[in-house]
Amino acid sequence: MKKTTPSPRPLRRSLDAEKQERVDILDQTQLPWRKVWLRLETLADAECAIRIMQVRGAPLIGVTAAYGLALALTRDASDDALNKAVIHLAAARPTAVNLAWALERMRAHLQHLPPDERSAAAWSEADAIAEEDARQNASIGAHGQKLLQNLAAGHPRRPLQLMTHCNAGWLATVERGTALAPVYAAHAAKIPLHVWVSETRPRNQGLLTAWELQQAGIPHTLIADNASGLLILQNRVDAVLVGADRIAANGDVANKIGSCLKALAAARQHTSFYVAAPSTTFDFSLASGADIPIEARDGEELRLISGLAANGKPAHLRQIAEGEAVYNPAFDITPASLVTAIITENGPCPANRAALALHHPDKWSSQTAKTT
Ligand code: MRU
Repeated sequence: MKKTTPSPRPLRRSLDAEKQERVDILDQTQLPWRKVWLRLETLADAECAIRIMQVRGAPLIGVTAAYGLALALTRDASDDALNKAVIHLAAARPTAVNLAWALERMRAHLQHLPPDERSAAAWSEADAIAEEDARQNASIGAHGQKLLQNLAAGHPRRPLQLMTHCNAGWLATVERGTALAPVYAAHAAKIPLHVWVSETRPRNQGLLTAWELQQAGIPHTLIADNASGLLILQNRVDAVLVGADRIAANGDVANKIGSCLKALAAARQHTSFYVAAPSTTFDFSLASGADIPIEARDGEELRLISGLAANGKPAHLRQIAEGEAVYNPAFDITPASLVTAIITENGPCPANRAALALHHPDKWSSQTAKTT
């Protein structure tokens, strides 16, 4: 595979003044307004960072949880501490399966070790998970680039028009991103392209995507979520490219709320709808998307708008009265029939049971075996 320049990272290991292992994260609740690094020192810090979305994105919350476990075991490496830490971290966010997957991998690696070996082993296993994520995203980028190159060849006289939703860039992973990895690779290969970035109410992760693309010098335009259907039906989008938080055995995809509406519009127009995700996002123990738990988040995320106040400082503005009933599901399920292909580190794969089993045989046999 051709080497491309890696992107920045939203998480890094560090040592404090007493030479204690710590984890520094880029606080995504402050972006795109301010670039603030936060230091995680304890299990509680890591759980809170995941829950309040200082770190976000399925792969990144899995990696943060792995490091959170390492922080916990550095203080107490007993069986009880290990089990309690896994339960505590797993409950932070329910939909993205990468969280549960990373914690189970850590537990399986650590539980048979003597307690005095667990802390060092936890740090190195968390590093291994992080580096695997970076490698998987590089592969997703290379496979996705080929798809984009073929699409672009059909429109030689104008830039390729892509649409994305939420943020599935380097901020949501260890490096490069999932849905944005092919965009970065195509841009590096000088394929002319432009990205429609939907705002992604209520947490506005689209602003993070716009910030990433701005930094990379990639042409893009922010749109309100409600503008997506118009653009797709006007044939102003060649392909929609999104990430995923969990993919069931039949190929149904859980992703940020609003993804399914784009898929419906894309299917109506015969526009490609690609999902880019590492195999850590598969949950073949679930037969379909109907079994995926959908996180319902605090209504205040909908009632308040965040931004910069007139004094230039980040602030919240109340747009919906405190007592107003609101419902804030954070994810939706796109039926497999609306997905053109799932791009993983192994390449593009049709979204159906037979193809997923064929492309990911090890994961398929280990996860479906548990359900039979
Ligand atoms: O709630 P978030 O911001 O953690 O959700 C992330 C998403 O849903 C992204 O769209 C994404 O595709 C999955 S992470 C690469």
